[in-house]
Amino acid sequence: MLTSIFFPFLFSVRLALSSPSFSGPWDKYCNAPHVNASHYQLPEEGTELVHLTVMMRHHKRTPTALVPNERGINDGIPWDCSGVSLFKYDGGGARLSHSVFTPPDHPFARQMWAGNCEVGQLTTGGFHDSKAHGMDLWELYHGRLGFLRLVDPSEIGVRTTYIDRTKQVASGVLAGMDPSSAKRPWAVHAQPQLIDSLAPSYTCSRADELLAEMLAAPFWQDILKNNSAVIEHMNSVLGTTNSTEWTTTFTYYQDVVAARICNGHPLPCNGSGDCVSEEDADEIFELGNLEFDYIWHLAEYAEPYNQLTFGVMFSELADALEEPKHPLALYVAHDTSMVRVAAGLGIFPIRWPRLGSEFAIEIWSDNVKPAAGLRAHLTEEESVRSEACRDTRSDS
Ligand SMILES: *[C@@H]1O[C@H](CO)[C@@H](O)[C@H](O)[C@H]1NC(C)=O
Ligand SMILES: *[C@@H]1O[C@H](CO)[C@@H](O)[C@H](O)[C@H]1NC(C)=O
Ligand SMILES: *[C@@H]1O[C@H](CO)[C@@H](O)[C@H](O)[C@H]1NC(C)=O
Ligand SMILES: *[C@@H]1O[C@H](CO)[C@@H](O)[C@H](O)[C@H]1NC(C)=O
Repeated sequence: MLTSIFFPFLFSVRLALSSPSFSGPWDKYCNAPHVNASHYQLPEEGTELVHLTVMMRHHKRTPTALVPNERGINDGIPWDCSGVSLFKYDGGGARLSHSVFTPPDHPFARQMWAGNCEVGQLTTGGFHDSKAHGMDLWELYHGRLGFLRLVDPSEIGVRTTYIDRTKQVASGVLAGMDPSSAKRPWAVHAQPQLIDSLAPSYTCSRADELLAEMLAAPFWQDILKNNSAVIEHMNSVLGTTNSTEWTTTFTYYQDVVAARICNGHPLPCNGSGDCVSEEDADEIFELGNLEFDYIWHLAEYAEPYNQLTFGVMFSELADALEEPKHPLALYVAHDTSMVRVAAGLGIFPIRWPRLGSEFAIEIWSDNVKPAAGLRAHLTEEESVRSEACRDTRSDS
């Protein structure tokens, strides 16, 4: 059982579900609730918070799945990433950032939407949510618990993936915690893209084989067949009919729909005015959830697939929790990271991790033995696990 590998001192957790309150299925997907000062249960008296690890998914972004006529399906509406500079060079030279532009007469402009956003970039709305997220973390862990004292690299270690949007989120979270960090340089840690364990992005051919087998299995093929109507409609609107990378899972459709709904853009329409409908979007939402539950929970190879693709990160997390370097370790990651942690912890059924969803892993001490509690906000049922758990290492 993976749990015992990476959370050696967590031996029992209590799962408290509060009743979900949302109108449409996408509502809470776009900005997951996170721990905050007004909804926080203190553990028993006489205990003291000694360490906090927060792992979160980035906030709302532009799509990463682009269609052949990307400009055409956006109804002329530009994507807005103003105020979110894309990259800074801060190595002793001039500090650089860049903003994206596409001249309207660019011969390849149809491949890209209008506006000032890169593919998969945090949008202005996503940056706003990141700051609010940081503010809430600060209000709780500084204001209410007095645990964090300073927004400073000596107190907060930040690990991102190699992908820019995780750094943009980290920057928003820190500025939300303390607006004066907006003026300070801050070194975050990220591993080389080739072998980044957090995204994760290292290659593992055995894992690729297992995934291929899971997607070829009769159960998954039946899901695709049973839902061919929505798949065909999506393809005919998006112009992706003959593309196998689009049609073997729901991942790309989910991306197309989620990015638009979460950023307040209309659903895509094609040149003849046929559009992805709200019903299509809601079906894609459920099918995306089913896909994640299948790959990381129900499928025959779900567990080895997770071990192979995230084993490196589980082991890093275990080491980091064992010997924390900072009071707060903040990891900014992706749905692909969050889902693997959820599966490793056995938080089933698996749902597609929402934007801004987080695990807050707290270690409390009663001055006798350290204990750990886990507060997880991952799915649209707000699952909060919080229990002071004894360290059993010395007993077993
Ligand atoms: C605090 O968290 C609770 C539970 O997730 C949520 O219902 C509430 O809206 C949050 N409050 C704020 C101010 O974000
Ligand atoms: C697909 O549809 C058939 C016929 O309705 C049903 O019997 C089967 O359980 C469905 N398969 C899956 C995997 O949903
Ligand atoms: C898809 O492939 C079929 C068979 O090769 C072809 O007839 C059809 O035009 C293609 N559709 C699109 C949208 O490219
Ligand atoms: C738009 O979608 C409709 C139905 O889904 C399809 O029949 C039509 O060919 C598409 N038009 C274009 C320009 O792709």
